[in-house]
Amino acid sequence: MSRNLYRLLALCTGVFMLACSSSPEKKTLSTEQKIDSLLSLMTLEEKVTMIHASSSFTSGGVPRLGIPEWTMSDGPHGVRKEHGRGWVGSEDAQYFATYLPVGVSLGSTWNPELGYAFGKVLAEEAKYRGKHVILGPGINILRTPLNGRNFEYLSEDPYLVSKMAVGYIKGVQDQHVAACVKHYLANNQEIDRNTVSVEMSERTLREIYLPGFVTAVKEGGVYTLMGAYNKFRGQYCTHNEYLINKVLKEEIGFDGAVISDWGAVHNTMEALKFGTDVEMGTDLSQGEVKNYGKFFMGDTVITLVKSGQVEESLINEKVRRILRVMYRTKIIGGGDRGTGSFNTTEHQAAALKIAEEAIVLLKNADNLLPLSKTKNIAIIGANATRKQGGGGGSSQVNAKYEITPMQGIEKILFENVTVTYAEGYEVVKDGKASTTKIKEAVEAAKKADAAILICGWIHGYTDLWDDNAYDAESVDKPDMFLPFGQDELISAVLKANPNTVIVIMGGGPIDMSKWESKAKAILFAGYPGMEGGNALAKIIFGDVNPSGKLTMTFPKKLEDSPAHAIGEYPGKDSVVHYNEGIFIGYRYFDTKKVEPQFPFGHGLSYTTFLYESLQVTKGDNQSVTATVTVRNTGSRPGSEVMQLYVKDVECSVERPDKELKGFQKVMLQPGESKDIILTLPVDAFRFFDEKRMEWVLEPGKFQIMAGSSSRDIRLTKEIDL
Ligand code: BGC
Repeated sequence: MSRNLYRLLALCTGVFMLACSSSPEKKTLSTEQKIDSLLSLMTLEEKVTMIHASSSFTSGGVPRLGIPEWTMSDGPHGVRKEHGRGWVGSEDAQYFATYLPVGVSLGSTWNPELGYAFGKVLAEEAKYRGKHVILGPGINILRTPLNGRNFEYLSEDPYLVSKMAVGYIKGVQDQHVAACVKHYLANNQEIDRNTVSVEMSERTLREIYLPGFVTAVKEGGVYTLMGAYNKFRGQYCTHNEYLINKVLKEEIGFDGAVISDWGAVHNTMEALKFGTDVEMGTDLSQGEVKNYGKFFMGDTVITLVKSGQVEESLINEKVRRILRVMYRTKIIGGGDRGTGSFNTTEHQAAALKIAEEAIVLLKNADNLLPLSKTKNIAIIGANATRKQGGGGGSSQVNAKYEITPMQGIEKILFENVTVTYAEGYEVVKDGKASTTKIKEAVEAAKKADAAILICGWIHGYTDLWDDNAYDAESVDKPDMFLPFGQDELISAVLKANPNTVIVIMGGGPIDMSKWESKAKAILFAGYPGMEGGNALAKIIFGDVNPSGKLTMTFPKKLEDSPAHAIGEYPGKDSVVHYNEGIFIGYRYFDTKKVEPQFPFGHGLSYTTFLYESLQVTKGDNQSVTATVTVRNTGSRPGSEVMQLYVKDVECSVERPDKELKGFQKVMLQPGESKDIILTLPVDAFRFFDEKRMEWVLEPGKFQIMAGSSSRDIRLTKEIDL
């Protein structure tokens, strides 16, 4: 049949089907039938328009059929500044958004309900600004402390990542906005991200790097997924036959759309055949004429189909996936998406609540914290006054406002408290310790009853990126030490006033070996968002009891962390071998008996918790139900994250000393206790057997451990399975 005759017939059928759907007495068409109908009405050119970018953050639409351009926005922790159709960001104040705590901070709450609240804020603001897809959550595993984008991600542990991601995705998608889980897969370093090929064993893939994505699809029902920049086993991730066609679409059953990272497509045929559904990227051509048609998935595709080299059904499949997401999010097909909302007081309250639960109390000797509000306080450090929201790369947010730590502290203190500020260090390229600034800081600390030193990394801005001293996209950190001579500053201030609270901002672990033993109180604040200064002040002065827990191990020194211990970072000749295998994070530190600075899951409170009466019972299908009572034995209300770890006592393959398989955060009044009941499904006990290429439960003894961190196990029980 000639193409034109075929199209005419299809058009008639399509019009008939659309007519049927609008007639009340006729049967309702399923979404797939409606998609069939739309596809039959579309020209090849229109279909191809839909599978590549039409501006920096849209892909093409088909206006005559009521299909709008598909509008996307970063990013993980706030709707990014408006880019319009070009690449230049708008400074228009109407787009200044709610800036939420970053991914690693969200993870530190260990509270999936806050994941949902987080996603809801993002989606409401995205929708208000006419966006259909929010490019988050970022769920890559924290493999090395040096990764410049650790701050955007959630954890080193796949179970924690999965639980937090599901909350986020549902929060977004319940608002009829598509979430986009990223970056699939193994984008665990920024160095060489466009060229490096990641090699890992199948077991490592299945047990560590894949579970977050599996759960995002199966439990979260995520509508879109972003392919990563890097290669996996020699082939680019965005069009990786194994990862996308075989694992994601065939095995896991993902039926949404795969969006490329910006500029991550490198080959037309591979993209067409190996699962890329939309090619996004930036057209940097000058002036008004844009060349999006020149993209790999642009005009070439039309030629290939017309010349018979590529089946049109391949293109139909991609358009089908996009249309499916459009129906699900009510962009087409009618239904009320709602209008969304922007910068509401509820959004700001969510930002505050998340920040309050995200900040981690690492150390509190002599109960230095909380500080009394009736003291003479010195505040030291450039991060006390620095706004962080606008940095970091694609996750930049033009915040409606950002309460700095200094502002938060000043607001909470009574007027009769004297606050002295000293900058302590300068944020400049290659910045070294400044003797003058350290002297000023020491003077201020000496005169004060207590000092608060707010330091750490900074969210990088483009013009400073080449300095590498930042948490930012496209660069990794040069080492794990604090930049700008902060170690010298901290040591000097601690000497001048032992009642100094150290507050670390940043996206991940830092080397504290030069001063940790001298510091009485240390807080890890991540990047706590627009309400971060308020949250921090409330914790420092005791209005809020800290309840955050680390989502990654803090090593004593970089060489202690597995990828560095075995010399497999950042790879050689564009290949990086993940030879540490499944032993990453605490799985490595605990199994290989390497003492961390602060362990995974660690975080103190101003109250104390007692764990009592752990009971484990077998249920159906090899599940195990664990019951444990947690009691608040201190004098303040507080929340504890009870963590359940599993150990396979004897196994034919090497397994980690323990693995997180359940957790729950509980709020308890002084003296109050609650029973926590968690059921661990059979999956909690299985490992991926590479010989059989399947998940296996090896019968035998398993330990179930209830703990306050991976190294603070309070109760253990054994069970036979
Ligand atoms: C980042 C993505 C981001 C995209 C669009 C890329 O550079 O890797 O995470 O969503 O840009 O801004």
